[in-house]
Amino acid sequence: MNNRLDGKVALVTGALGGFGRAITRKFVSDGTKVVAVDVTDDGAESLQDEFGDSVKFLQGDHCVRAHNEAAVALALDTWGKLDILVNNAGIGRTAAFSEVDDELFREVIDVNLMGQFRLTQAALPAMLDGLDSQPLSRSIVFLSSGLGLYGVARSAPYAVSKHGVNGLMRSLAAEYGPRGLRINSICPGIADTALGRMTTAWADSPEEVFESLRQATQLRRLIEPEDIANASAFLVSDDARMIHSVALRVDGGAHV
Ligand SMILES: NC(=O)c1ccc[n+]([C@@H]2O[C@H](COP(=O)([O-])OP(=O)(O)OC[C@H]3O[C@@H](n4cnc5c(N)ncnc54)[C@H](O)[C@@H]3O)[C@@H](O)[C@H]2O)c1
Repeated sequence: MNNRLDGKVALVTGALGGFGRAITRKFVSDGTKVVAVDVTDDGAESLQDEFGDSVKFLQGDHCVRAHNEAAVALALDTWGKLDILVNNAGIGRTAAFSEVDDELFREVIDVNLMGQFRLTQAALPAMLDGLDSQPLSRSIVFLSSGLGLYGVARSAPYAVSKHGVNGLMRSLAAEYGPRGLRINSICPGIADTALGRMTTAWADSPEEVFESLRQATQLRRLIEPEDIANASAFLVSDDARMIHSVALRVDGGAHV
C-alpha cells in the first residue's frame, strides 16, 4: 500500500476492461476514491465486490454527453470534488486499408477520440474549480497508444484516433497548463487484454503475433495491465508535478 494518492477522487472510464480495472485497483490501493464508468455492466458486480465503498460504478457511454455529466455529478455528489480523470475507454479494430469503410472509420474516431473529448469537456469545470488555491494537484491522463506515435499495417482508423488523442492532450496541456492542471498521455505497447486480442484477430495465429511483438521489444516482454496502472498512478501523483504534456511510452522498448 502506497498512500501517495490518498484523499484524491478519480474518474476512470473503461473501468471493467483490462487496463481500467487495473488502474482502479491501483488507485484504490493508493487511497483514491473512484467513479468507475463503462459502457457495459458485465463485471460490474465483481468490481463493486472487490472495491466496496471506495468505488461507485456507473454504466455509461463516454460518447454521450448526458452520461458524462452524470459521471462527474456522481463524483461531486459522493465525494465533493474531482481530482483525476483517466480517459481510458477505447475500442480496437483492424482491417486492411482497402476494406475500411466510412462507418468503421467513424466508429473508431467517435469512441477513441470524440468520446475522450466529450468527457474531458464535461469534467473540466469540476477539475478547475478551486484549483487556483492548489495548483498542480489535479491531473488528466489520456490512454493513447504506441499507435498514437507510430503506425502498423491494418491500423489506419485506430492509429488516426490515437494520434488524435495525443494532439488533444497536447492542445489541452497548452490551454490549461497555465491554470495549474497537469495533462499527459500514456502510449502502451500491446497487452493481452480483450482489445489487444481484437487487434491481432486478423492473424491465423494471434499467439504468433504476440510472440513476434515480444521478440521485437527490447526488454523481450509484453506489458501487463499493472504496468499501465503504475504509470497512471505515477503521472497523477505529486511525484510527477512537473511532468506535463508528455506522451509516455510504456512498451518495454518496442521502438528505440
Ligand atoms: N491492450 C492493448 O494492447 C492496448 C495498447 C495500446 C493502447 N490501449 C488503449 O488502452 C485503453 C484500454 O484498453 P484495454 O486493453 O484495457 O481494452 P479492453 O477492451 O480490455 O477494455 C476497454 C473497456 O472500455 C469499455 N468501453 C468501450 N467503449 C466504451 C464507451 N463508448 N464508453 C465507455 N466505456 C467503453 C469497454 O466496455 C471495456 O470494458 C484503450 O483506450 C486502448 O485503445 C490498449
